[in-house]
Amino acid sequence: MDAWEEQRFCVGEAGAVVRLIQADCLEVLPALLEPGAVDVVITSPPYNLGIGYKGFDDAAPRDAYLEWTDRWAAAVARVLSPQGSFFLNIAGKPSDPWGPFDVLQVMRRHFRLQNTIHWIKSIAIPESRKLSGRDEDIGNYPGWENDLVVGHYKPINSARYLNDCQEYVFHLTHQGDVALDRLAIGVPYRDKSNVTRWRAAGGDLHCRGNTWFIPYSTIQRRDRDRPHPATFPPRLAEMCMRLHGLSRKRSGLALDPFLGLGSAALAAARLEVPFLGMEISPTYYREAVQRLREALARTGRKLSG
Ligand SMILES: C[S@@+](CC[C@H](N)C(=O)[O-])C[C@H]1O[C@@H](n2cnc3c(N)ncnc32)[C@H](O)[C@@H]1O
Repeated sequence: MDAWEEQRFCVGEAGAVVRLIQADCLEVLPALLEPGAVDVVITSPPYNLGIGYKGFDDAAPRDAYLEWTDRWAAAVARVLSPQGSFFLNIAGKPSDPWGPFDVLQVMRRHFRLQNTIHWIKSIAIPESRKLSGRDEDIGNYPGWENDLVVGHYKPINSARYLNDCQEYVFHLTHQGDVALDRLAIGVPYRDKSNVTRWRAAGGDLHCRGNTWFIPYSTIQRRDRDRPHPATFPPRLAEMCMRLHGLSRKRSGLALDPFLGLGSAALAAARLEVPFLGMEISPTYYREAVQRLREALARTGRKLSG
């Protein structure tokens, strides 16, 4: 057996096992998982934008980065079940906007692109009656009389580029035919008359669509509260898992080969589904273990390991 450092947590009544491993995912995936063993992959690989990770060089030549991307994508394709979902979170930066699409072209060798989700971090919806006297932007909603500007806004100083307020989540599958549980993350109808008009909608919920507003939670100090330069909120991972159909009632193995601080592990623990995550940096791995331990202690869920 390989001498990886590993922590196992046993979560919930059914005892779902959440495993965190400190190692290179390219070593672990072929060694630990049988073909087709994974139901949902949710991950955010290094974007190769020169981000200052601890213990990982994020500034490889583009060709070398894409060759490496091809290798881990093949490893993920091997373990993803025929009806599995792979949610790939990635972004570029204004001065290097092609990165996500170069990576997507590599993914195309292994998967079909079934959905493109936009993770919206910040959004501004002007209340246009103030500008034009008409209700063009948000519509005429009672009680809504001001501009809506919400979310996490990271200023850039540029005359050329707009602020980047979104990231991609590419939903990749083997054949493009995976049934989703759209109402598991559905939103209530604003206009209730549509509930009866669209009976197929199944009650008061409709599909959320592919724009997901998920702000970061506010932190006071990065080094203490979120000591990693590129995380996604656990809620993003939870929504992906639930959209695929995972829940406390319907289990299935979830995987994050680039674990970082363990946001996907937190999501799996919340849903009480089995999970496997790998992180190459000992520093981030230890943080992920700690975060999961604290989260489980807070919720009082059954925990061992
Ligand atoms: C974008 S971050 C993931 C952040 C994570 N989604 C979170 O919310 O905390 C990518 C992570 O991949 C890790 N990493 C890079 N190469 C790796 C490899 N070969 N195997 C496992 N982890 C790796 C980096 O150390 C970094 O923490």
